[in-house]
Amino acid sequence: MKRNIARRLVISAASLAALILLIQLIPVERTNPPVEADLVAPDAVKDIFRRACYDCHSHETRWPWYGRVAPFSWWLAGHVTEGRADLNFSRWPLFDFEARELILRDIEKQLVDGTMPLRSYVLGHREARLSDRDRQVLLEWVRAGY
Ligand code: HEC
Repeated sequence: MKRNIARRLVISAASLAALILLIQLIPVERTNPPVEADLVAPDAVKDIFRRACYDCHSHETRWPWYGRVAPFSWWLAGHVTEGRADLNFSRWPLFDFEARELILRDIEKQLVDGTMPLRSYVLGHREARLSDRDRQVLLEWVRAGY
C-alpha cells in the first residue's frame, strides 16, 4: 500500500517535470521594437517614468531572466503586450492633442488610485516604488498638460 503511494508520487512528480519542460517549447514574444518617439518630459519626470513604468509601457523593456521560463514568461509577456497597448512611452503622441490629453488623464487616474505600477511588479522591483514625492512630481506634470 505504502509502496503504491510512493510510486504514484514519483509518477506525478515526473509528469509535472515533463509538463514544465514541454511548455518551455511554446514560443513567447519578448520583443523590443525600435523606439519611434520617446516621451518628451523634464529629466526629473522622465526618470520616474523610466524606473517605474518603462518595463511595461515602452519598447525598452528590461526582460528579466525569469521572463524566459514558462509559465512566468507568459504572464510577463502578457503584461508588456497589454501595457504597451494602453500606454506606450516609445510612441509618444507628440502632435495629437486629443490623444495626449486622454493619455494624461488616464495616467493621472492611475496615480491617484495607486493602481500603477502593478503591485506584483513592485514586489520584485523596489526601484519602481513611487514615493509620495515621486507621485507628486508626476501628478504636477500630468496636470500641467506639459
Ligand atoms: C508590470 C507591468 C506594468 C508596470 C510596471 C506599469 N504598468 Fe501600467 N499597465 C500594465 C498593464 C498590464 C495594463 C493594462 C491592464 C490594466 O489596466 O491593468 C496597464 C495599464 C495602464 C494604463 C491604462 C489604464 C486603463 O485602464 O486605461 C495606464 C494609464 C498605466 N498603465 C499607467 C502606468 C504608469 C503611469 C506606470 C508607472 C508609474 C505603470 N503604468 C507601470 C502594466 C504595467
